[in-house]
Amino acid sequence: MSDSDKTAELEFNDTSLGLPILSPTLGPDAIDIRRLYADGGVFTYDPGFTSTASCKSTITYIDGLKGELLYRGYPIEQLAEKSHYLEVCYLLLYGELPTAAELEDFEARITRHTMVHEQMNYFFRGFRRDAHPMAIMVGVVGAMSAFYPDSTDVTDPRQREIASIRMIAKMPTIAAMAYKYSLGQPFVYPRNDLDYASNFLRMCFSVPAEDYEVNPILARAMDRIFTLHADHEQNASTSTVRLSGSSGANPFACIAAGIACLWGPAHGGANQAALEMLKEIGSVDRIPEYIARAKDKSDPFRLMGFGHRVYKNFDPRARVMKQSADEVLDLLGIENNETLKVAKELERIALEDEYFQEKKLFPNVDFYSGIILEAMGFPTSMFTPIFAVSRTVGWIAQWKEMISDPEQKIGRPRQLYIGAPKRDYVDVENR
Ligand code: ACO
Repeated sequence: MSDSDKTAELEFNDTSLGLPILSPTLGPDAIDIRRLYADGGVFTYDPGFTSTASCKSTITYIDGLKGELLYRGYPIEQLAEKSHYLEVCYLLLYGELPTAAELEDFEARITRHTMVHEQMNYFFRGFRRDAHPMAIMVGVVGAMSAFYPDSTDVTDPRQREIASIRMIAKMPTIAAMAYKYSLGQPFVYPRNDLDYASNFLRMCFSVPAEDYEVNPILARAMDRIFTLHADHEQNASTSTVRLSGSSGANPFACIAAGIACLWGPAHGGANQAALEMLKEIGSVDRIPEYIARAKDKSDPFRLMGFGHRVYKNFDPRARVMKQSADEVLDLLGIENNETLKVAKELERIALEDEYFQEKKLFPNVDFYSGIILEAMGFPTSMFTPIFAVSRTVGWIAQWKEMISDPEQKIGRPRQLYIGAPKRDYVDVENR
C-alpha cells in the first residue's frame, strides 16, 4: 500500500477539495474521502457500499473481472488442490503459510478445544426440536460469551487469540449438535484423532448404535468446501462482524451477528435456495421456462447460485465445486443424478444467453455446493450452518485485523434524510 502524492480534485458549489488517492497492492485506487464532511460539509451516497472501501485489509483479494480469489496472495485453486482447511486457517489468521512445526502446533491447539462446555447441552435443549440449525447457531454462538467469559476482553491480545481458537475449534461441534438436535439423536462428542473435516462428518452422521467409518474422499470434499468458503473479503456477513466489533463487542457476539447475516437467501442461504431451485426445475426440458422467468422483470424469480456482487466472471470457487461434485457423485456411485444434469445444462444455457452475458451473471460458489452436500447426506437446512463453520476463520481474521488497525473507528454510516421536514406535534383530537 502506498499513499501516493496523487489527489483527486472535487469541485462542488463554491468549494474545491483535493482528495488523496490511495494505491493498494492489487486492485483499483481509492479516493480517500475521510475529510470530505469536515472540510466540505457533504457526504457521499452509496447504498450497498458498491463503491466504498470500508477498511484496509491484507487478508483476501478478489478480482471480480478476472474471476480471481487470493487468500494472503495465494490463488484459491492452488489452496483447494494442495493445502487443507486448517493450514488455510493458519494462513488467514497469521498471514503466512506455517512451517511443519507451526502447523502441528496449530492443529493440536484447535483439536484440544473442540469440545463445548457440558452445560451447553442444556442450553440446546431450550430450543424447539424442529428449530432450524441456523437459529440454534445464532443463539448458541452468541451465548458462548456467557460460557467463556475469560476470552471476551477485546483489548487483551491473548484473550482475542484464545477466543479465535475456541471458535474455529468449536464451530463444527456446535453445527453438528444443532443437526443432531433437529434429528432427535444424541450429541456425538468430537474425536481428537480425526482431522477437522472427518471429525465434523462423524459428529453429524455417526450414532452410538453402530460404528461409523469416515470415507476419506468425502472428508477431502468436505475439507475443500470449508477451504473454498473460508474468507471472501468484505462481504455482508464479514462487514457485519467488523461493524459489530467496531463498538468493542465481544468476539462471540460479533460472530453470532455474522451468522445471522449469513442466513439470508441472498448470501449464505443461496446454496439451499439453489438446490431447491434445481429440484423445482426437475428436468432439463423445463430449463427454458425458468430462464424466461429469470429474465422477466415482472417476475421476482432469480436464478439462485447465479450472479455475484463482485464477480463479473466465473466465480473461481464454482469451478472447483463443479469438479468436486463430479468426484463425489462418482465415488458414491450416484449416476445420472438429475439435479446435477439440470445444473450443468442450466449453466450451459445461461452462459450462452444474451441476458446473462450482458449482465455478466455467472455461476457462483453456491451453484454446485448444494449438490455435493446433499450427496453426502446433509439436508438443505444444514447447508448454511456448514457455510458458517467454514467462514468462521475469515470472520475472525477480519475481526482481529480490525481490532488492531489504528485507523479503525466505530462504524457509523451517514444517511440522506428524505422524511418529513421539521414540524410541530399535533394533539390527537386535531389530527
Ligand atoms: N438471476 C436473474 N437476474 C439476475 C440475477 C439472477 N441470479 N442476479 C442479478 N440479476 C440481474 C438483476 O435483476 C439486475 O438486472 P437489472 O440491471 O436489469 O435491474 C442485474 O442483474 C444486477 O443485479 P443486482 O441485484 O443489482 O446485482 P447485485 O450485485 O446487487 O446482486 C446478487 C448480486 C445478490 C448475488 C444477485 O446476483 C442475486 O440475487 N443472485 C442470486 C442469489 C445468489 O446466488 N446469491 C449468492 C451470492 S454468493 C454468496 O453469498 C456466497
